[in-house]
Amino acid sequence: MDAVPKQKFAGLNFGGIQNEIYNAGLSGVLPEFPVDFATLEKRAHDALGPGLTNYVAGGCGDEHTQDTNASAFHHWGMVPRMMVDCAERDLSIELFGHRYPTPLFMAPIGLNGDATQDKDGDMAAARASAKTGIPFCASTLANHPMEDVKKACGDTPAFFQLYTPKHKGLAESLIARAETAGYSALVVTLDTWVTGWRPRDLNASNFPQLRGRVLQNYFTDPVFRSLLEKPPEEDLRAAIFTWAATFGQVLTWEDMAWFKSVTKLPIVLKGICHPEDAKRAVDTGADAIYCSNHGGRQANGGIATIDMLEDVVEAAGNVPVLFDSGVRSGSDAVKALALGATAVGVGRPYTYGLALGGDRGAAFVLKSILAEADLLMAVNGYPTLKAVREAGARRV
Ligand SMILES: Cc1cc2nc3c(=O)[nH]c(=O)nc-3n(C[C@H](O)[C@H](O)[C@H](O)COP(=O)(O)O)c2cc1C
Repeated sequence: MDAVPKQKFAGLNFGGIQNEIYNAGLSGVLPEFPVDFATLEKRAHDALGPGLTNYVAGGCGDEHTQDTNASAFHHWGMVPRMMVDCAERDLSIELFGHRYPTPLFMAPIGLNGDATQDKDGDMAAARASAKTGIPFCASTLANHPMEDVKKACGDTPAFFQLYTPKHKGLAESLIARAETAGYSALVVTLDTWVTGWRPRDLNASNFPQLRGRVLQNYFTDPVFRSLLEKPPEEDLRAAIFTWAATFGQVLTWEDMAWFKSVTKLPIVLKGICHPEDAKRAVDTGADAIYCSNHGGRQANGGIATIDMLEDVVEAAGNVPVLFDSGVRSGSDAVKALALGATAVGVGRPYTYGLALGGDRGAAFVLKSILAEADLLMAVNGYPTLKAVREAGARRV
C-alpha cells in the first residue's frame, strides 16, 4: 500500500507539452505523432496494413454500437466556471490503495503484441506505462508472458485481464501467476466467452489467435502445457486447437465465490453496463466495476457505454467504476469523470500509437489525451477531479 501524499500530484502541468510542441515549431520541428484521433487513426491503419486494421478497427455487425460509443460523447457537455484559481490542477486518483498521478489507464488490448513492427507490442505498451505512470491492464492474449510484461511496467502498477478458461486448473494457474508477478488487480472480462460477429474479420477469414498469435500466456503456462501431448514449439496446430477448446468459460454470479477463494487480488468485473448487474457485482464482492461494452466489438445493437455510465455509478455506490469504450480525446475522458467514472480507459488510441512508434508512440498518445484533459480543466475552472464531478456533464 502506497501512502503517497496527494500534494505530490498537484501542479504536474500535463498540458505543458503544448508549449514544447509550439516551441519546437519555432525551429521547424513538427510533432512526430499526431495529437488528434482522426489523423492518428488514418496513419495507424496505413502502418498496421489491412489484416490488422480489420482486427483492431473492426467491431460487431454494422459497427453501429462501436461508432455510437464515440459519437455519443458529443451529446454530453460541460459548463465552464470562471474566477476559479486553476493555476495548478490535480488529476490524481486513488485506486486499490495506490495513488496514481492521472485518472487514465490503458485498457486491455489482446492484439497489442502484433501492433508494433517488431511484434513485441505488449512490452512496448508496458514501457509506455512505465514512462507515463498510466497503469496498463495487460491482456491474457499477448506475445509475451505476463511476468515479462509486468517487469517492463517498471514502478507503475499494472492490472491483469483474465479471459477465464474452461479448464479450472488453467484458470487458477493464470490467476496465481498474475498474483506472483505482482499485478495489482484481476480484471475479469465477462462479455467474451464467445467472439461476437465481426464482418471485417469474417470477410477476410482472419482470426489472429487461430494463427498462433498472442497466445504466449498459454504456451508458457505449466498447466496448459500439461494438456498437450507435444509442446507448442513442436506442434503448434495442436496447441492452438487446445487453446480454442479451453478458451471461454461462461460465467455466472455463482462463480464470484470461486474467484474470491482463489485470489487475494482486487476483482474487477469488466463488461458491466446494466445498473442491476453493477449492484449484483457489488453484492457478490467485486472490488470494482468496469463499465464497458468492449468497444462495440462483441455485441451490436447496444447503447453507447457513456450513456449507461451515470446509472452504473449510482448503482455501484462506493465501489470504484472504471470506464472505457469510445474515449478518443481528453475532453471525452473528462466527461466520463464528470459522469462519475473513477478511472478512464484508453483503448484503440494507444494501440494506434504503438503501431506508429512503439512505446514512444503510445506514450505520446496518452500524454496528448492527458494534456487536453488538463487544459480543459484549467480553462473550465475545475482544479480537481472533485470539481469536475461536482460540475457534472449535461445531456444536450
Ligand atoms: C483490438 C482489440 C483487442 C481487444 N482485446 C481485449 C482483450 O484482450 N481483453 C479485453 O478485456 N478487452 C479487449 N478489448 C476491449 C478493450 O479493452 C476496450 O474495452 C475497448 O477497446 C474500448 O473501446 P475503444 O477502444 O473503442 O475505446 C480489445 C479491443 C480491441 C480494439
